[in-house]
Amino acid sequence: MRIAAPGKLNLALAVVGKRDDGYHELRSVFVTLDLMDSVRVAPHKRLEVRNSLPIDGEDLAERAVKTLARAAGRDPHAFVSIHKRIPVAAGLGGGSSDAAATMRGLATLWGVDADLIRIGALVGSDVPFFASGAKAAFVSGRGEQVRPLPAPREPMHVVVLRPPLRLRTAEVFSAFALSDRGAAARVDSLVAAFEEQRVTPDVVRTFAANDLLAAAERRCEAITTWRVAAAERGIPLFLTGSGPTLFAVADDRADALRIARILKRAGMRAHVHQICM
Ligand code: C5P
Repeated sequence: MRIAAPGKLNLALAVVGKRDDGYHELRSVFVTLDLMDSVRVAPHKRLEVRNSLPIDGEDLAERAVKTLARAAGRDPHAFVSIHKRIPVAAGLGGGSSDAAATMRGLATLWGVDADLIRIGALVGSDVPFFASGAKAAFVSGRGEQVRPLPAPREPMHVVVLRPPLRLRTAEVFSAFALSDRGAAARVDSLVAAFEEQRVTPDVVRTFAANDLLAAAERRCEAITTWRVAAAERGIPLFLTGSGPTLFAVADDRADALRIARILKRAGMRAHVHQICM
């Protein structure tokens, strides 16, 4: 069985507090990205997970198999093969999406009717969004509360920019200071715009904000350099997740191609994508 595993962007992300368990309380608008990994799951005599690219740290797909197997009361035996296209440790949710796709595939293969959002939360904070299958959602708590939002009526184009380095989520959260907070009202405004079906590129550019930006900039100088260079060319860049990936919101496909051309000329790696697909 083959399952597509899309990447994500956080159009807006507010950190509203720090919890006693060390995690942070979030409010965020997540959308899927048309940049996708492909996950194949099959029955097997033991657990075997293959990735087409080296991954960083723990393999979330392996953890997904073990966690679902435990919940279903069966052996964690499966073959999982992941063809990666989403860059690793980029803030695009690739590993979490692979884990959710693995759980969805295995649940079907095993005939298990499980609450994949709840089980996904045991695997990683970004997994519940992908497990929900939503194209857009308001995500809160540590990431385990997922409220699907209607996708925008028009296709939305973005330009995704990836500084050439990896950032660990935990590292960025540890650089976060409560004084960095400020995006919560914009998250709420963007959620309302989605719910009322009045999301346009202008609306997203107005409310896009990320409380992890300052922390990510403290850890990665390229984020500041690229944002300043783009701003000088009239293009605001926003951070997704804990970074380092940045994105620009375009009016349409032609505008996205124009933005990508300008930013490539300025030395950035830029790719045109669609969201909520
Ligand atoms: O849940 P996940 O393993 O993806 O989180 C990675 C790290 O990111 C956590 O160990 C924690 O340091 C940080 N994190 C956080 N608050 C969240 C999500 C992640 O502090 N809501």
